[in-house]
Amino acid sequence: MQVHNKIDNLKTDISNYKSANKKIGFVPTMGALHEGHLSLIKVAKENAEIVVVSVFVNPTQFNDPNDYKKYPRNFSKDTEILKNAGAHIVFMPFEEEIYPGKDTRQFDFGALERVMEGKHRPGHFNGVAQVVSRLFDIVEPDVAVFGEKDFQQLTIIRKMVKDYNYPTKILGAPIVRETDGLAMSSRNQRLTSEQRKNAAFINQILAASKNKTHQLSVEQVENWVTESLNKIDHLKVEYFQIVDQETLQPINNWQENCDKIGCIAVYCGEIRLIDNIKYSL
Ligand code: PAJ
Repeated sequence: MQVHNKIDNLKTDISNYKSANKKIGFVPTMGALHEGHLSLIKVAKENAEIVVVSVFVNPTQFNDPNDYKKYPRNFSKDTEILKNAGAHIVFMPFEEEIYPGKDTRQFDFGALERVMEGKHRPGHFNGVAQVVSRLFDIVEPDVAVFGEKDFQQLTIIRKMVKDYNYPTKILGAPIVRETDGLAMSSRNQRLTSEQRKNAAFINQILAASKNKTHQLSVEQVENWVTESLNKIDHLKVEYFQIVDQETLQPINNWQENCDKIGCIAVYCGEIRLIDNIKYSL
């Protein structure tokens, strides 16, 4: 496994594989790697011959400076994990490699970014698009894999690829969970043990809400989830919204002809966690 900090070296390495007609799979991450990230690497390996993983805590996507400062970083452990996972190339760039100057590009994802994460984290998706487009320009992957845990991010990346004609195929991978149901996240390691215990209710209440769709309206289910979680110590729901999986726009009733997903952001103490659940009616 090759580890690169510099774009030039990475590009030379990748172009050697490309000239040998090897298909390049790419998994962008911010590190503090867990099984969720490893599941994406597995999908990448199934769909490409060479897997490139980037580890870069992207400053432009953090709307909360404290979250950026405290984001877990463990580059040597990540390198070890990636070696064991069978990644071929790791890109851990210095910040000035990705942003030699201020990135002033403004992306417009329309209605997709005016809801949920986009609404509550101003500038977040612009920062995600800045870094992912930059990484795509450098790596030029045939395939890139993103997790459904960040469902809105996956939708926005698909739109970016379409709008900007990237030749990269985007694959989504299902959420990987801890045994008690909590969606794996790098931020989970910042929870105290009591917060960690209660964080498991997020998925448990979401799962229970799937059985309520026959007796309760969409709005009532949204309220039930929000109120049930807000009753639990340490948890405070920022939003819970049931939306069309494709447009991400809120739905008003269960009869609407679309696939539905409930997306949630919950503060557990000062740690902000997200999760989602698909409703099949
Ligand atoms: P990060 O939070 O490190 O996540 C990297 C990838 O792993 C994302 O595609 C995310 O959806 C996926 N992922 C995280 N937890 C997961 C889980 N429990 N199950 C399945 N997939 C999971 O998302 C980012 O970084 C950044 O925004 C990034 C795309 C790298 C741009 O900076």
